[in-house]
Amino acid sequence: MVYGLGIESSCDETSIAIVKDGKELVSLKVYSQIETHSPYRGVVPEIASRAHLEKINALLSVCMEESKLSFQELSYVAVTGYPGLVGSLMIGAQLARCISLVHSIPIVLVNHLEAHLAVIGLEGELPAFPWLGVLLSGGNSSIYVYKGFGDLELLADTQDDSLGEAFDKVSAILNLPYPGGPTIEKKALQYERPKGEKSPFPKLLKEDGSDLIRFSYSGLKTAVLYYLKSLGNQMPVERICYYFQKTAFELVLRNINKAIQKTQIKTVVAAGGVLANETLRSLLEAEKTNRSFQLYYPQKKIYCTDNGAMVACLGYHLWKEKKFVGLDFKVSPKRNFEQIL
Ligand code: KG4
Repeated sequence: MVYGLGIESSCDETSIAIVKDGKELVSLKVYSQIETHSPYRGVVPEIASRAHLEKINALLSVCMEESKLSFQELSYVAVTGYPGLVGSLMIGAQLARCISLVHSIPIVLVNHLEAHLAVIGLEGELPAFPWLGVLLSGGNSSIYVYKGFGDLELLADTQDDSLGEAFDKVSAILNLPYPGGPTIEKKALQYERPKGEKSPFPKLLKEDGSDLIRFSYSGLKTAVLYYLKSLGNQMPVERICYYFQKTAFELVLRNINKAIQKTQIKTVVAAGGVLANETLRSLLEAEKTNRSFQLYYPQKKIYCTDNGAMVACLGYHLWKEKKFVGLDFKVSPKRNFEQIL
């Protein structure tokens, strides 16, 4: 039996977890800073680092206690090293260094984005590589060709706002709370679309005949803003949320299909905060059936948002490959592995 500790502190969630054999959750604790950042409608880096520092040791104690394990029983400490807010990453990194130094446990450095994808290993057998890794979060709208642990190639990226960011900004335009995703989803579900009604928003990134796969959501955000202005004092919030989601998710499905066509890879693993959205989950399920690809995404919503379990899970596979780092490892805001190590 191999027990590993996972430390996540890249953005606004402080989280510690213990995982057995890379596939079984033993303990997971997450402290979300959402309330702290919500008055600013976004994550304030300096506040985030301080909040991590205040919470991280307590989370570690609770996690260790719950697991009934001693540090000597841990085989590795996995920590998110990149990408993320540097000040926040440093808090998790320092904890990993301390544990490693005091208890002589090797450290494995984990790519946060890769961990979001690998977390499906906690819910069942991992499919054979390669996968198309679709990341839809507050910071990313991207598709990777995931060839093996530590081996990702960027296939598609956003040109401006990420999908989660678009949810958050449209929520601000509509005077709804931060983060926008959960509220917009709820409002959209309350809308009953009259038969034949057309969307007030244009299709995103109309086809230009090229095989480039791109995401772009800032135009949709602006379309929402101008649509609202054109309505004067009316605020049909549910209707706007419904068509915003519909337009935004159509691009996700279109890009997944393009990626399958371009690479001939038929294993799609989707992850990130936006995957908590039930409408998106249903659309992906329907698309999987229509287009016959294999689809995986975290069933438990706690695995969609940032968490230490995904770090410990990916850490296990890197540990098996002996991909250890020394105490002098670096953290980075960059997402490209080669640029960092
Ligand atoms: O992966 P994540 O927890 O964090 C980072 O990107 O660091 O993603 C957060 C994003 C936010 O933009 C939030 O609005 C979005 O995920 N989100 C959702 C939902 N829940 C969270 N978007 C759409 N529908 C949801 N139910």
